[in-house]
Amino acid sequence: MTNEFGTENVLLGKEEKSVLIIDQTKLPNVTEYLELETLKQMYDAIFELKVRGAPAIGICAAYCYYCLAKAKEEKPMELFEKEMGEEKEYLNSSRPTAVNLSWALNRMERTLLANREKSVPEVVEILKQEAKKIQREDIEMCRKISEYGLSLLKDGDGILTHCNAGPLATSKYGTALGPLFLGKEKGMNFHVFADETRPLLQGARLTSYELHKGGIDVTLICDNMASIVMKNGWVQACLVGCDRIAENGDTANKIGTSGVAILAKHYGIPFYVLGPTSTIDLTCKTGDDIVIEQRSMEEIKSKFYKEPMALDEVKCYNPAFDVTDHNLISAIVTEYGICRAPYEVSLAEAKRKSALQIDGNVVQ
Ligand code: MRU
Repeated sequence: MTNEFGTENVLLGKEEKSVLIIDQTKLPNVTEYLELETLKQMYDAIFELKVRGAPAIGICAAYCYYCLAKAKEEKPMELFEKEMGEEKEYLNSSRPTAVNLSWALNRMERTLLANREKSVPEVVEILKQEAKKIQREDIEMCRKISEYGLSLLKDGDGILTHCNAGPLATSKYGTALGPLFLGKEKGMNFHVFADETRPLLQGARLTSYELHKGGIDVTLICDNMASIVMKNGWVQACLVGCDRIAENGDTANKIGTSGVAILAKHYGIPFYVLGPTSTIDLTCKTGDDIVIEQRSMEEIKSKFYKEPMALDEVKCYNPAFDVTDHNLISAIVTEYGICRAPYEVSLAEAKRKSALQIDGNVVQ
């Protein structure tokens, strides 16, 4: 099932009143679409990672916002605005680290407020177009990131990636996996090591699945095998996505990413972060300002096992993300080019270009 853009993971449902997502928790064994109609279903889908990956969460949230607005089309503007404000806040609280969630919801809210002089049905239609625009921009963004990212690689390179930053986590191509799909289209070959990514196994369930389906040579490894494949000389670059980038380049991404970066530095392997400018949050000066999502111990102990793998009484610590220090990052690849240290300067420049683009000006 695809939409007008040819993408398949986040779509509008029946009569454009609901959001359809591929339930990513069921992959790779079952490809099943979930229809999100109510606010609670939308919140749960994001919280339970049925839709996940920072850009995909943003796209889904934008469509959810539109559908919630559509359900209130008959209401007077004042009430419409008030209820939309409350529902937006609730949706925004579903996951704290991926900034694309609040970025997309804020953008939808700004669109509503900028058009409040119009009738509610007119505003609802404008919101639909805005959500589609966010998705369309995401496709273009992934393409640009893929091109810039590919320029950093050589045919035949071994690549290590952590978590999943492919088409399922975005719209098309993906961010960290984008250069690999684009390279494949151009006849290049890479050998990819996909970290399984404990505890939720995004690398095993999603990355190895997407790469294999795309005809890319992939080997699945446990997270604790990254060092040996690097030591063996099998990895020429690490490519990862991102959930929030601070002004100084410190980057939050899936738990375990910072360990990969430390290993890469040890073995002299370039470590690249790939993500859209919407993931750069200049209100966070450093990684210390990034809120890290904490999740349940059930994810570590039992979620993917037939029986619990630890005693009930044993405590768990389950942060969903960690922050990679900017000193460990060789470059941050955005849709506006490759940012290098000092990141305060290069990221601010990328953000400036994206702001110009949103205001409708031409940006190279
Ligand atoms: O908890 P998840 O699966 O949403 O975490 C996803 C990641 O950490 C990705 O690397 C990141 O969102 C970038 S996706 C293009």
